[in-house]
Amino acid sequence: MNLNALIDYFKDVFNQSENPTCYFAPGRVNIIGEHTDYNGGHVLPCAIHLGTYIMAKKTVGKSIRLFSINFKETGIIETEISHISNKYENGWANYPLGIIKTLIDKGYQIDSGIDILVAGDLPNGAGLSSSASIELATIFAINDIYHLNLNRLEMVKLSQTSENEFNGVMCGIMDQFACGMGKKNHAILLHAHKLDFSYVPLSLQNNCLIIINSNQRRGLINSGYNQRRLECIEALQAFKEILKINSLCDMTPDIFENHQHLIHSETLLKRTRHVVQENHRTLIAFEALRDGRLKTLGRLMNESHASLRDDFEVSTSELDLLTDLALNNGAIGSRMMGAGFGGCTINLVAQQIIVDFMDNVGKHYHDQTGYTADIYIVNSDDGARKLEFTME
Ligand code: GLA
Repeated sequence: MNLNALIDYFKDVFNQSENPTCYFAPGRVNIIGEHTDYNGGHVLPCAIHLGTYIMAKKTVGKSIRLFSINFKETGIIETEISHISNKYENGWANYPLGIIKTLIDKGYQIDSGIDILVAGDLPNGAGLSSSASIELATIFAINDIYHLNLNRLEMVKLSQTSENEFNGVMCGIMDQFACGMGKKNHAILLHAHKLDFSYVPLSLQNNCLIIINSNQRRGLINSGYNQRRLECIEALQAFKEILKINSLCDMTPDIFENHQHLIHSETLLKRTRHVVQENHRTLIAFEALRDGRLKTLGRLMNESHASLRDDFEVSTSELDLLTDLALNNGAIGSRMMGAGFGGCTINLVAQQIIVDFMDNVGKHYHDQTGYTADIYIVNSDDGARKLEFTME
């Protein structure tokens, strides 16, 4: 991204003469650990080089003005600081506005207006955490500009609160955590309730992580996601009658096997099986990555996909096809990534075959579905940050 061009754009759009300050927050991929975060389990994400850029500057008035280069046709969205609400017509801007409103509601002093220009290179709604990325970039900007003295973890938690309460998506904390706490060349093993975490070097030997965006139309993601959360809560209630647990991931696979009779619904049983086994897989995957056993990591990714498809039922026929094509074309591991109901797959692929891999998977996917997949290599990156720049 050319920062000088973004700064010029900012001055032009908002008719400002002074330079804004610049911030960046990455998106994330999740190597394994899907739908475990809100069940008190582990996840293994890493921040990536694609993300959201924010140029921002305080103004003298009391209004917030927002403009996104990715949604130019929407124009400037303007609202008074004291009147922020979630409006359908605000579209993308409901994410940064949610952050500001959440901060105000928590008592932080945001007493004068601000102009915010947003630009991003993450595909929207593809499962790479475009929303957490814009949330973290916004909160980093607001924290810096209004001198709020929040630390990283507080910003991560407030971003999740904002998405839960302002945007009505009952997401766990994985995405915000990865976008806020990411470390270049590392993945993060996170226990999503205790927030204990450790970095593990992302040593992929001669392999790389390839993202394949199915580009299928994504329907009902938020309602499907929230429904899965409710099913997990219901399952937890049943186990809690006998077991002393606070979340589904407090069960090991053995404990789960021995107490399956507590659940009478086949659907809830399947949901729980996925969650418990996925949490277990994530811990084994962490060790495999740490010890350089990448075939084991790949196998666990494949098992994760099967479980998300058959037990958690959040995959789609397009994502299933993409994982089949990936494995038939030499991937070591392939699985759907993120919430599901569309979006991306993540693939562990040997560098020496990537050109053929991309060509073949892309071609067969298009032949069989009519959709054109976007396929690209992702690199890890650091978490949200202020960008220093020198004017050309
Ligand atoms: C979305 C949510 C995360 C997590 C994943 C599924 O990305 O934002 O909190 O639950 O889905 O693993």
